[in-house]
Amino acid sequence: MPEAQLPKLRARNLNLYYKAFHALSDVTLDILPQTITAIIGPSGCGKSTLLRTFNRMNDLVPGARVEGEVTLDGEDIFAPTMSLVRLRRRVGMVFQRPNPFPLSVRDNVLFGPRAHGITPRDRLQEILEASLKGAGLWADVRDRLDEPALDLSIGAQQQLCIARLLAVEPEVILLDEPCSALDPYSTLHIEELMRQLSETYTVLIVTHNMQQAARASDRSVFMLLGELVEEGPTEQVFTMPRDERTEQYITGRFG
Ligand SMILES: Nc1ncnc2c1ncn2[C@@H]1O[C@H](COP(=O)(O)OP(=O)(O)OP(=O)(O)O)[C@@H](O)[C@H]1O
Ligand SMILES: [Mg+2]
Repeated sequence: MPEAQLPKLRARNLNLYYKAFHALSDVTLDILPQTITAIIGPSGCGKSTLLRTFNRMNDLVPGARVEGEVTLDGEDIFAPTMSLVRLRRRVGMVFQRPNPFPLSVRDNVLFGPRAHGITPRDRLQEILEASLKGAGLWADVRDRLDEPALDLSIGAQQQLCIARLLAVEPEVILLDEPCSALDPYSTLHIEELMRQLSETYTVLIVTHNMQQAARASDRSVFMLLGELVEEGPTEQVFTMPRDERTEQYITGRFG
């Protein structure tokens, strides 16, 4: 197998319980590097839960319990030796509603690097510029770096949240319905950005928008009631699904 095709993330017989509720059932899945993987399925099927497992955000939910294995580059993310700070730096997350800090554009992007102890001004300036460029936002904000992030448009705020992630040099970017608060123009912008990001990073997106999954992802995962029903190249999942339930969902017959 060529090295580029070794999975970045692997879930093996992953089960997740919220107290007695079985939210993920025996999920086994490989996520390829430098690929956009879309997770689709009806509301409540466990898409966000699966995404949050990859950087152990579910640890914050009281009563949540995990069984099974998840590895990042072959390393067990649940191992006692795994640093959560480092894991969440390597596997960053963007949410449905952009959540910039009530700080300037600059301070949002530099928040992570400063927290990680980077202080030289030149280095911070480099990170600022590279991260904003990486998020496709530099041209728009280069003259507004000291303005409040919350004054940006919602679409630009979402790009800023992506820049904030890039500033800590992640390897995997998790996006949970990142466009659901955005207009169609900003949505396309984020999709183009995801395409560029996937040249460097492993990108996972949860979306309710079937057209978005079909046009913007390389691979698709269909989930139902906590189970992974089907996974494969997006074109195949959308044109020749192997499972009848996938077909019913993508043709809009339920969900
Ligand atoms: N913190 C929690 N405590 C208890 N149950 C939860 C918690 N979070 C999610 N659940 C339940 O787990 C199941 C999966 O939820 P999850 O949010 O992962 O679904 P989803 O596919 O992302 O749905 P949506 O499309 O509506 O965002 C749902 O039945 C939900 O009610
Ligand atoms: Mg969700």
